[in-house]
Amino acid sequence: MASIANKRLVIFGCGYIGSAVAQAALTAGARVEALTRNPEKAAALRALGLAKVVVADLAASDWHGQIAGGPDFVVNCVSAGGGPDGYRQSYVAGMQSILAWAGGSAAPVGTLVYTSSTSVYPQGAGALVDESASADGGTPNGRIIRDSELLLQNAPVGAVRRSFILRLAGIYGPDRHHLLDQLRTDATTLGGSGAHRLNLAHRDDIVAAILACLGASPAVANEIFNVVDTAPAMREEVVRWLAAKLGRPMPAFDGGTTARRGGAPMPDRVISSAKIQRALGWRPQYPDYRTGFEKLLSR
Ligand SMILES: NC(=O)c1ccc[n+]([C@@H]2O[C@H](COP(=O)([O-])OP(=O)(O)OC[C@H]3O[C@@H](n4cnc5c(N)ncnc54)[C@H](OP(=O)(O)O)[C@@H]3O)[C@@H](O)[C@H]2O)c1
Repeated sequence: MASIANKRLVIFGCGYIGSAVAQAALTAGARVEALTRNPEKAAALRALGLAKVVVADLAASDWHGQIAGGPDFVVNCVSAGGGPDGYRQSYVAGMQSILAWAGGSAAPVGTLVYTSSTSVYPQGAGALVDESASADGGTPNGRIIRDSELLLQNAPVGAVRRSFILRLAGIYGPDRHHLLDQLRTDATTLGGSGAHRLNLAHRDDIVAAILACLGASPAVANEIFNVVDTAPAMREEVVRWLAAKLGRPMPAFDGGTTARRGGAPMPDRVISSAKIQRALGWRPQYPDYRTGFEKLLSR
């Protein structure tokens, strides 16, 4: 993997993953710039040592003149809450804005990494899902994210030299562990079913996958990779294990529809990360829920 030291990286969307990427890239010696909507976050990022932080809405164009074009690397990891309008604004209009900025610059972006989502996959019923599976969206929001992927895949020549789409599974890690939080509140009942697998990806493994794309050999380009641990387990198994670790009784499942973004039920499937392992040698440091949660519980 090539070093990113002394290279210029622009991060769009500095939330949970974006901030961790910024930290890791600074540690690796990159010159890091970022765009965020949030002035407080901007101050924190400046304090971290970022060379430049612009406060703006990605979907607007007023920032185009404030961030120089032609960076070695771009990471787009904006996320959206709420319904379709918010999704279109952050994912679709955000990607359009990045591509307009990149296309209007004298030099193209070297490598652009986009953190998409496994919510683009409609499959359930225990299916094994790799990147060759259809990805026409399991939910309305998943379809919007797929639209943003297509924008990048059809980016104008001259805007981006190469790109990678990372379809992330359910993110967890330090300060982001919803299931653990629920069990810690003495919950006796959890919403939804235990009879579907949880496809999880630890924050640090996602950051490692993003850095692996940035430093990938020039022979690897324009790929889609799933990023997920290697042992998706039934939700019931994960809850039983966590309850035992916490010394709590096993809660019941209320059997209702466990909402995911867009309100659709959680599908049961096994998302495969075999492709990124083969292509980039990426290996999760947290290959299953036990190693990830064990670390979180020890904090
Ligand atoms: N959460 C999951 O389990 C999951 C699963 C699969 C894929 N993903 C994907 O993983 C990526 C990273 O997620 P995350 O957990 O790091 O998300 P996050 O913590 O919610 O951070 C997302 C960031 O994007 C920023 N943002 C959103 N719209 C923006 C806009 N129009 N202009 C500028 N900034 C904007 C937000 O800024 P504000 O602070 O101003 O709102 C926020 O800082 C996202 O692309 C997400 O779709 C997430």
